[in-house]
Amino acid sequence: MALLPILEFPDPRLRTRAQPVQSFDAALERVVADMFETMYAAPGVGLAGTQVDVHRQIIVMDTSAEKDQPQVYINAQIVEREGSEVAEEGCLSVPNVFEPIKRATRVRAKAQDVKGQMFERELTGLAAVCLQHELDHLAGKLLVDYLSLLKREWIRRKLEKERRERAAGGTKDAAKEAAKDAAKAAPAPTHPAGRVI
Ligand code: NI
Repeated sequence: MALLPILEFPDPRLRTRAQPVQSFDAALERVVADMFETMYAAPGVGLAGTQVDVHRQIIVMDTSAEKDQPQVYINAQIVEREGSEVAEEGCLSVPNVFEPIKRATRVRAKAQDVKGQMFERELTGLAAVCLQHELDHLAGKLLVDYLSLLKREWIRRKLEKERRERAAGGTKDAAKEAAKDAAKAAPAPTHPAGRVI
């Protein structure tokens, strides 16, 4: 197994539309295993193929508290949705940003497992949010697309600055500066890490 690099906004590859999976073979099993490893290590509760530059309709997720309920959705479609709720979401491709996003409360999904077996499942709560978020990724859509242009631009600049600082080697001064900036810009975080999707 291997950890895969996660693409970050505004990487244009995140705008790619994923293609349906056609062969349910050993190569697919390997990608799925790598995606689980990458997701758990990040850590996040869900990961879409697009985020690791694999442009096929593959979603892995585990929204359980114990992190012992891995779920794979291949070629997933939502066939029913009900209600709506606004909740804070984070994204591995938009690090350290949490925004309230409106999603359906309950969804019914149709998908295939890693062997190609069709199944249907009803999802609620975080699992429902997660699947909707990952399906957005497969369509080339990101959480920032739900925000105003101004906010999106602010996030793009913030992430670019953080990346520059990381690339500069994270000297003590840079770290101090970043901490100062973070204290200035962001109120104390109120979001559970369990909502990074
Ligand atoms: Ni995401």
